Amino acid sequence: MLKKLIVGNWKMNGVRSDIAHIKDISEQAAAHSNVDVAICVPATLIESASNISDSLAIGAQDCHAHTNGAHTGCVSAAMVAECGAQYVIVGHSERRSDQGENNTDVKAKAQAVMAQQMVAILCIGETENQRNSDNAVSVVIEQLNLSLPEVDNYDNLTLCVAYEPIWAIGTGRIPTLDEVAEMHMAIRQALVIKYGESGNNIHILYGGSMNGDNAADLLSIEHVDGGLVGGASLTAAKFTPVIAAASLT
Ligand code: 13P
Repeated sequence: MLKKLIVGNWKMNGVRSDIAHIKDISEQAAAHSNVDVAICVPATLIESASNISDSLAIGAQDCHAHTNGAHTGCVSAAMVAECGAQYVIVGHSERRSDQGENNTDVKAKAQAVMAQQMVAILCIGETENQRNSDNAVSVVIEQLNLSLPEVDNYDNLTLCVAYEPIWAIGTGRIPTLDEVAEMHMAIRQALVIKYGESGNNIHILYGGSMNGDNAADLLSIEHVDGGLVGGASLTAAKFTPVIAAASLT
């Protein structure tokens, strides 16, 4: 079984005074050393958050696919790595919808992240209509196959996949446990087809309204190797029960 990985995604939340929450969360991470814990903060906080503690990894929420150049307002993978980021979320559904990112963009970003020896957290997920039309699995696996990075060496793939049903994000609703199990199994199979046995070592995270109440059930499902947590990662009070649930599964 893979060591559980719980990643917080602060989205566009967090200013310098919120670093106190990072300190509190890092203490919880240190107290649950059988779980890997990371927080993906806004770019402006990466450097200061990275200096807090070795028990908590810090990540970015996006980066540009190019190393540098005329891309006003963007930051590259090398830039966030230099600030201390160890993870970068790519292809979050909010970026796919707000910024129009497609699978080709996401694949290029994942490759840029991995080229900097950081872990790319590649997000995929279906809309509510796709779920209701019973083709969620085929939609998500197609999205995955088109977004997965091309790599020369399948050893030590610094890649995670996050299954985030779009309709579950920020709504308090989650799929049934059977639906999560079916999706994660299909993702695992696709990863093994793509990367051979190394596909078994890639963490598959569940994201979408994960919290202290449902984390234990979700994290007990086969091939749910961790979580990508939005709202419930903003304070240690909300995030600790998720970390604790991961520590017990
Ligand atoms: P919530 O946990 O707030 O639903 O957000 C999930 C998410 O989008 C994490 O990337």
